[in-house]
Amino acid sequence: MCGIVGYTGAKEKKEIILDGLKELEYRGYDSAGIAVLSGDDIEYFKAVGKLDNLIKKTENFQSYGPGVAIGHTRWATHGKPTELNAHPHLGKESFVVHNGIIENYKEIKDELEKEGIAFLSQTDTEVIVHLYEFYLSQRLEAFEAFKKTVGRLEGAYAILLISRSAEGKIFFAKNGSPLLIAPDGEDVYFASSDTAVIGRAREAYYLEDGDYGYAQMGDILLYNGESEISPKMKPLPANVDTARKDGYRFFMEKEIYEQSIVTADTMLGRVLDSQINFEEIPQGFFDDVEDIRICACGTSYHAALTASYLFERISKIRCSVEIASEFRYKEPLLQKKTLFISVSQSGETADTLEALKMVKRAGLKSLAICNVDNSSIVRESDVSILTRAGIEKGVASTKAFATQVLTLWMLSLYLAQDRGIDSQILSKEIEAMRHIPVVLRVEESLHQKIHRLSKRYLHGHGFFFIGRDLFYPLALEGALKLKEISYLHAEGYPAGEMKHGPIALADSELFTIALMPSTILSDKIRSNVEELSARDATILAISAEPFDIADDFIAIKHDSHPMTEFFEMMLVTQLLALEISVRLGNDVDMPRNLAKSVTVE
Ligand code: G6P
Repeated sequence: MCGIVGYTGAKEKKEIILDGLKELEYRGYDSAGIAVLSGDDIEYFKAVGKLDNLIKKTENFQSYGPGVAIGHTRWATHGKPTELNAHPHLGKESFVVHNGIIENYKEIKDELEKEGIAFLSQTDTEVIVHLYEFYLSQRLEAFEAFKKTVGRLEGAYAILLISRSAEGKIFFAKNGSPLLIAPDGEDVYFASSDTAVIGRAREAYYLEDGDYGYAQMGDILLYNGESEISPKMKPLPANVDTARKDGYRFFMEKEIYEQSIVTADTMLGRVLDSQINFEEIPQGFFDDVEDIRICACGTSYHAALTASYLFERISKIRCSVEIASEFRYKEPLLQKKTLFISVSQSGETADTLEALKMVKRAGLKSLAICNVDNSSIVRESDVSILTRAGIEKGVASTKAFATQVLTLWMLSLYLAQDRGIDSQILSKEIEAMRHIPVVLRVEESLHQKIHRLSKRYLHGHGFFFIGRDLFYPLALEGALKLKEISYLHAEGYPAGEMKHGPIALADSELFTIALMPSTILSDKIRSNVEELSARDATILAISAEPFDIADDFIAIKHDSHPMTEFFEMMLVTQLLALEISVRLGNDVDMPRNLAKSVTVE
């Protein structure tokens, strides 16, 4: 949810922290802050709103020479986005940044208040720094005080703490929220995600739950429980160029255009001439699997829902899909022959991660479809298939969704192979699949047309995206994309269900985006759209075949297979959301109230 950066060394510290935070800003951006300790000098700055406000505030500040620095970009959980609630939180001589939620903070706060300690913020985080200083006041040595502090915390956290009481040291601890350490000679960098340190170090250690310790002058002391452990380093990606905008107006736009390339990457070495190959999956992995249960949130949930049609239709295996936050608490009946699949772009979504941990405790096999290697979900899962979408920065997910659906489609074929799918059917599927990167090339004329059309869809009292079968999850995703970045009310609905209630809303100010494939239930969806048109709803039809009664029409070309239609319509709905949002003057990449990665419940 939030972004964390830390540094200990002799380089200019402000620049390192702010550059790192810039890379993480997409994770949360309602306030930001930085604290620097160099010798006896303590400086800290906080600013509400985007990182630029903090950058302006620190314009005249620099800090050379040996020292430590921590920074944070926040997405509010406890307490409003104010300067007082922004991290780093401070005690008398120490600062802390934290990502996650301290569940027992009230209890600790009450205790400390009884000791006469005053709190400045409404956050859960502030207890950490006061508890640390309280233990210091009990004459504990600095690291002992930190260790004891961490020992008291319940909940999820990635923490960096610096203090005058421990010159040159950064204390760290991790449980449930991501954190990595990247040393480079006498410099040690910390971050909640590797983009913040790429280019500064060549390798990193991704902390495990329960890890804590400190870094000082290139040395890292790492513990888990009572035992000291040595960090197992992994190479960091070589550059972040792919994560920059490349001349597009927005990351989201760039990411929509990248879909052709990343879907090709996702298939590399996996889609062969007459079979699907996943080196990641051990032989016999599916042998005793009787059914599949998928959990995910947001866009990933829509990819999962799409997959449920594919698993049942192509692989002939029972498949159910659930929103992770619902699944976690419904006391689901679990049986060991169910394969649990989690789908997540970030691999850090708290609800999905907790659902995964729960099924693991029940002894189920787990498989992750994820975009971030070494993420918590990947590390927790028995098997992981990476989606290879590259870094996705737009909060509204696009290319990650495309690669998730594609990967799940591949997986459905892989399973079907296992179960003896007819080779001709398999060949047809593979042929269609190989065509997807072509389908996803954005033609200038299409983008222009959607740009022109978008001006007619800036008002009204709501949007219904409707579709049937595979196109129902796509309708949900199209509506989600639009509402995320336009703030207009949009719903996705199964087209056949409109007459059971929502059709009451139909009038000329109700915009219906009709996903009308030629390959699946085309007559049925036509009738559903006709019913809406008869009630004067405004219809934008997306289809390969012209549709007379539509008010607006966007033609698609690739209608040889349901999935080629699916991906082409996906592209259209993404561009439509983008263009409407741009016309409304919204911040496409950082829509209000949202965060890219939701690491709290
Ligand atoms: C957040 C993001 C969504 C994303 C969802 C699940 O809400 O804003 O775009 O779909 O989390 O994230 P995940 O990383 O698990 O796919």
